[in-house]
Amino acid sequence: MKAESPGSLNVAEPSEPNPEFPIEAVRAAFPALNRAPQFTFFDNAAGAQVPQLVLDAVNHHLLECNVQRGGRYRKSLEVDQTIARARQSVAHLVNARSANEIAFGMNATSFIRLMSLAIGQTLGKRHQIVVTDMDHEANIATWLDLEKSGAKIVWWKVRGNGSLHVDDLIPLVSSSTRLVACTLTSNAIGSIVDVAGAAKIAHAHGAEVFLDGVHYAPHGLIDVQAFDCDYLACSGYKIFAPHMGFLWGRRESLERLPTFREDFIPDEPPGKIEAGTFIYENVAGMDAAVRYLESLGKSMADDRDEGQALDKRRGALERAFKAIGSYEEMLSLEMIAALRDCDATIHGIANKNCLRERVPTLCFSLPNLSLSKVTEELAKREIGVRDGHMYSPRLMRRLGLSAESGAVRASLVHYNTVAEIHEFGNALAEIRKTG
Ligand SMILES: Cc1ncc(COP(=O)(O)O)c(C=O)c1O
Repeated sequence: MKAESPGSLNVAEPSEPNPEFPIEAVRAAFPALNRAPQFTFFDNAAGAQVPQLVLDAVNHHLLECNVQRGGRYRKSLEVDQTIARARQSVAHLVNARSANEIAFGMNATSFIRLMSLAIGQTLGKRHQIVVTDMDHEANIATWLDLEKSGAKIVWWKVRGNGSLHVDDLIPLVSSSTRLVACTLTSNAIGSIVDVAGAAKIAHAHGAEVFLDGVHYAPHGLIDVQAFDCDYLACSGYKIFAPHMGFLWGRRESLERLPTFREDFIPDEPPGKIEAGTFIYENVAGMDAAVRYLESLGKSMADDRDEGQALDKRRGALERAFKAIGSYEEMLSLEMIAALRDCDATIHGIANKNCLRERVPTLCFSLPNLSLSKVTEELAKREIGVRDGHMYSPRLMRRLGLSAESGAVRASLVHYNTVAEIHEFGNALAEIRKTG
């Protein structure tokens, strides 16, 4: 598959920053962004920075109630309350029907593995599992491992323009399909997938849908009810919380799945998918990350919103992500323009009319320069990007790139700025000149 060449890009001139987006207040909320020396952080897809609210929540937990849950004393009861509050917050974040559909744990990969081990025990006539070649390997290898248990793997392949099209899924799903596992958004090239369309196809054949929400979560508002999926895994550390992961599952589906648990743990969610102790302070941080996003939404309420949905937590999150989405579209446009100016090849969607189909995560390469040279030279200028396969070696191969060395990835979130993109563009131009 050929990557889109610089000549075929169709981008408008860089636009003015969105005047409504409170970028200064946003940056002020993240202490790590304001420390010397000045550093441009474009490696958010590997983990984002955290706002002060999150630091305070983690600190409070470790200082005031760093004890085991389930005791009858005050500090232990406070841990129980923190976990219950965090479940409720994450339930709002993903639009779960109940907080008990949310499980906490180490990271997304371990949850995907837990689910693959459970679903692997339920294969019968329905033994086919659809995976994609656009996903992070965490949402591929975990399912491939089920071949040992009799699963047949069916590949949903990414198109030449870097998008995963639901029309291509239609012939792959049948009454033998147990599960469609796919990402909401590529962590390598930023393409968004029509997961609601995929769920419609899967459910029409009685199959379930497992979504990897890790890369979409910092960019768009998850809505498990609108997506009509059955399971969804996320990493808190990609969405402005500390290192931790969570899983949402449709209650009836979770209830049916066989999972490992000690005899005294009831066979019901969330306990049946939360083996052992998880990192309570980071769960407290996840709760605070959701509150940060809500406060961003509330700060952008205008007169028309008075008395409407904004008093509800989900409404505030909707407003926050609406603003984040349009601000990030502008960042994508600016990044595409900066890369085009340097004759970069963008591996993925680069058409200005398709910005809604991507997030500002861009993979690229520069003519006559090795990938490591580009990232090392940018690092010398205090700009953090990454080169490699981005844990999506199959996608790299499909894009005509080396599965080992991949491409350079710059991944931005809502606290990045146009000024940073200009600095990045100038640095790339300088690197091209000096070689
Ligand atoms: C899209 C995607 N899925 C899964 C993962 C794995 O997440 P975790 O590190 O929480 O296991 C990542 C990590 O980068 C990712 O970007």
